[in-house]
Amino acid sequence: MKKLKLVSTVLMVAFLLLLSACGTSKSGGEEKKTLRVVTDAAYAPFEYQDKGEIVGFDIDFVKAVIKEAGYGVKVEHVGWDPIFVEIEGKTADVAVSSITITPERQESYDFTVPYFLSKNEILVPKGSTIKSAKDLDGKKIAVQNGTTAQTIVENLYGKNNDKLKKFENNNLAILELKNGGVDAVVADNTVVETYVKNNPKDNFEFIEDDTAFEKEFYGLLLPKGSKLKADLDKAVKKVIDNGTYAKLYKKWFDVEPDVQILKDQQ
Ligand code: ARG
Repeated sequence: MKKLKLVSTVLMVAFLLLLSACGTSKSGGEEKKTLRVVTDAAYAPFEYQDKGEIVGFDIDFVKAVIKEAGYGVKVEHVGWDPIFVEIEGKTADVAVSSITITPERQESYDFTVPYFLSKNEILVPKGSTIKSAKDLDGKKIAVQNGTTAQTIVENLYGKNNDKLKKFENNNLAILELKNGGVDAVVADNTVVETYVKNNPKDNFEFIEDDTAFEKEFYGLLLPKGSKLKADLDKAVKKVIDNGTYAKLYKKWFDVEPDVQILKDQQ
């Protein structure tokens, strides 16, 4: 009996040694750190708070990517504008927040390769006279401040359009529509459609307009020149290639993703 115990102890120790050897060899001998990820958790189903927890497709995705890259991960809700301050000031390593890759943002930040195809869409009360983007002209519109929705509406109807109301987060923009303060909200299609589906009592509908709203791709936002970019790009591609991405996509959106369109962008 004693012998058996000794053998199992030896085996146990050998196993633990093996485990730790694996751990270090993977990171080339040095400890890989825990990355600080910031988000604006007010954009369901991508990032939102549920019983005090930050959840959503983006959150599952960024965790899978960072794990794949061999780092630890800690996600924190800081809000939309602070994301850009933190990434620029390098107080955070990564931001995930349905952030569209745009040439303007690329001047000040780096992005990983794209991981999601999106476009803007209009949210209106059912039966609204707004049937396309051109019907937004002269109407009161709510957007989240500093998003692509704001840029698009400003490009269409002027930068000093006093009918455009800008909110700190998208939930406040939708609340304004609910309260009758505006005629429409412009935001990312998945967010708009999820809201319509989950809030039937609000009696909202969504309006697509492929001529006014172009394809957009989300990327993970990184400080300019971030040394993590190579590792994270590789990990994003891996997570897309190994089926993890499709699994998460189905979990959150109930449909298969078109991964080819992402690969064509890589
Ligand atoms: N995709 C849009 C943009 O990059 C909106 C993103 C808003 N995300 C959020 N978590 N509030 O401008």
